[in-house]
Amino acid sequence: MSKNPPEVKYFEPPVYIAEADIKARVRELAQKINAEYGMQEITAICTLKGGIVFFTDLLRHLKMPVVCEFLGVSSYGNHTESTGEVKVTLDLNEPLIGRHVLVVEDIVDTGLTLSYLQDYLKMKKPASVKTAALLFKPEALKTPDLKIDYIGFEIPNRFVVGYGLDYAEKFRGLPYIGTLE
Ligand code: IMP
Ligand code: MG
Repeated sequence: MSKNPPEVKYFEPPVYIAEADIKARVRELAQKINAEYGMQEITAICTLKGGIVFFTDLLRHLKMPVVCEFLGVSSYGNHTESTGEVKVTLDLNEPLIGRHVLVVEDIVDTGLTLSYLQDYLKMKKPASVKTAALLFKPEALKTPDLKIDYIGFEIPNRFVVGYGLDYAEKFRGLPYIGTLE
């Protein structure tokens, strides 16, 4: 590495939800979850890839024993719209039978992914399934019966990136939620 590497400027999407606001809200959600579960052990499922940042931030505020599991899901479709067809790209490691499960999702848009996931997980006979989603776009919802137990922010129907969320695999590492529109 040279002493003065050339400065590379990447496109920085405008801030939609600031880093400090996300931090504060994640802490509040964790407090609610802590209050509801007490010291009950849970299995927290990080949905890949978008859930990674929310998951690790939330995890650091949870007080109960947590078994961490990762579930790869991808919804078919183009970069900005999902079709509702979901495929599991990486399956769970541990059985869920009798477990209290907390699904940790980046965003609920149409709700089709989460609704598929909830059915998929219930087949594994857990004691309970709850869901935490950092973002929720109520205007985009196509599954009115979907239950989301913990919601970080309700946002209008626009495309956001950062804090785990991508556009064509880019921007996941942004520390804030930005918008491309
Ligand atoms: P669904 O439409 O609720 O099934 O959402 C499916 C997936 O689309 C989410 O888990 C995200 O990975 C992705 N997605 C939906 N809206 C956005 C967005 O605004 N930015 C980035 N990804 C999104
Ligand atoms: Mg997702």
